[in-house]
Amino acid sequence: MEIITTHELGKSFGSLKAVDRVSMFVEEGEILGILGANGAGKTTLIKMLCGTLKPNEGSGQVAGFDIAAESGSIRHQIGYMSQSVSLLENMTVTENIEFYGSIYRMNRKQLTTRWNELQGMVNLGSHRHKLASELPSGLRQMLAFVISVLHSPRLLFLDEPTSGLDPLSRTDIWQQIYRTAYQGTTVVMSTHYLDEAWYCDRLILMENGRIKAQGSPEYLDSLAGGKGLVQLFFMSQP
Ligand SMILES: Nc1ncnc2c1ncn2[C@@H]1O[C@H](COP(=O)(O)OP(=O)(O)O)[C@@H](O)[C@H]1O
Ligand SMILES: [Mg+2]
Repeated sequence: MEIITTHELGKSFGSLKAVDRVSMFVEEGEILGILGANGAGKTTLIKMLCGTLKPNEGSGQVAGFDIAAESGSIRHQIGYMSQSVSLLENMTVTENIEFYGSIYRMNRKQLTTRWNELQGMVNLGSHRHKLASELPSGLRQMLAFVISVLHSPRLLFLDEPTSGLDPLSRTDIWQQIYRTAYQGTTVVMSTHYLDEAWYCDRLILMENGRIKAQGSPEYLDSLAGGKGLVQLFFMSQP
């Protein structure tokens, strides 16, 4: 079943078409990767799907809701980790969790249960009394990830969740992405790391706001005259 569909979706900033006539779908339960160079339109597309940015062309449905007219209903169903991680810097890890738990309207018992569960999976527990500003970048991203799944959303959007991290921290994040998908959450994530494309069930390759190719990693790899994903991605660089 498709949990996301868009038809000729577009967003312009002045004369710049950041997202240009994008028609795509996401199957429930899959990990969809949005691949593209800086400026390709990944963030703009994700923001429209999350209901935080209004499209000015085309249409889209997320979890049965219209992205333009029912964005409020969409925001209750999803988790969103933005590219610019927004932690409360002068608060501790636990205080960040409590703050976002209250935003999600979780009660004390729900929050405690879920936070205990998450601490069993990620290595944040021993850092819980540290200020967010004191965390190394891998743990900052992990905290942002944990916040995005705190309320066990049906649909998770991750905008370059591993950007700038060392390989080990990237692996840690991917482990959690897989765990989340395994539990039934649909994941839409963007990346500019080619190796990560292989971890996705399906890919959308974007270039100048448009979809250049979509399909399985193997399919995209077979394009570009058999020269593989690297070549295809290289050809899409501005
Ligand atoms: N708020 C904005 N105002 C003007 N231009 C924007 C804005 N947001 C994004 N853009 C432009 O839209 C294009 C796509 O940006 P973005 O969606 O952030 O790409 P990506 O996430 O793939 O790097 C870029 O050329 C960017 O400069
Ligand atoms: Mg971006």
